[in-house]
Amino acid sequence: MSEVLVIGGAGYIGSHVVKDLLAAGFKVKVYDNLSTGHKCNLFKEAEFVKGDILDFATLDKAMSDVSAVVFLAAKKAVGESMENPAKYALNNINGTVNVLNAMSKNNVKAIVFSSSAAVYGNPQYIPIDENHPLNPLNFYGFTKVETERMLEWYDRLKGIKYASLRYFNAAGYDEAGDIKGKDENPQNLLPIVMSAAMGERPYLEVFGTDYDTEDGTCIRDYIHVSDLAKAHVLAVKKLLAGSSSMTLNLGTGKGTSVKEVIRAFEKVLKIKLPVKYASRRPGDPDKLYASNEEAFKQLGWRPQYLDIEDIVRTFAAVYMK
Ligand code: UD1
Repeated sequence: MSEVLVIGGAGYIGSHVVKDLLAAGFKVKVYDNLSTGHKCNLFKEAEFVKGDILDFATLDKAMSDVSAVVFLAAKKAVGESMENPAKYALNNINGTVNVLNAMSKNNVKAIVFSSSAAVYGNPQYIPIDENHPLNPLNFYGFTKVETERMLEWYDRLKGIKYASLRYFNAAGYDEAGDIKGKDENPQNLLPIVMSAAMGERPYLEVFGTDYDTEDGTCIRDYIHVSDLAKAHVLAVKKLLAGSSSMTLNLGTGKGTSVKEVIRAFEKVLKIKLPVKYASRRPGDPDKLYASNEEAFKQLGWRPQYLDIEDIVRTFAAVYMK
């Protein structure tokens, strides 16, 4: 049985990936420093190593008997990346160098990497496909562009095959409630709306109502975390079967506006949300959604959660226990 090392496996997306890898019959080892991941997200069927990606010796040891790596550990708050680029350079870039060097040393030849739609910046056309120019607007997006370039070189020079998965707006939780930990201090719309719905914050601010969209609010592509997890398992299988490297968008291909998100929460939770209309947040493009045809071609992957209300329903699994 192949063993997969999931770096960042106690985190929000990582824990969903671990669940699906175990269900697919893989032996799984989780590597996580628990800085934002949760102990309660660990599965007893998976071995756990507490370690940091900046600690090469521990990483090297954890890598000794694995066939593939799923690498999710990273800093991901866009605003913070602009205020503290050093933290992002260190964790996201140096961290990736360590992971690739440890793989190289231990002869591990397959990596599934968490990239982001942040690599594209302002869309020149939509839906965005993988050939769209890369013009990140923030330092976080820059770190993802740089690490993707590093992956290309380690493929060329060391024969490490990669699947770089560019997530659009990850959202929702495992419907079965098997993942217990909430994403801590999230900066993203859906968890913010959910916490306003729970009364954890007094109101929700809508950043801009004068965008070039039908209802004036921004349009994004919300992709359910369990759909993301499925793509990781397919990518691991394909790389282990000897595939060449690939870079794939993971989104639904469908856009949803901020007002549509609010309406979905109000309908599903049968509440009226406290909303304040505020001015635009700098750097937000009007519309952003993916072409996911390449992921279908390469992996046979199609997302299951296409209706925002179905995604909203899954928040209840962790927020209302
Ligand atoms: C997010 C990620 C970015 C990633 C991208 C992938 C963050 C902060 N951003 O960006 O890294 O590359 O998805 O597509 O993690 N909004 C409000 N009120 C709020 C919060 C958000 O109106 O309190 C609006 C925003 O202006 C935006 C939309 O909701 O129009 C979504 O915002 P957000 O969840 O932050 O995601 P993105 O900005 O798309």
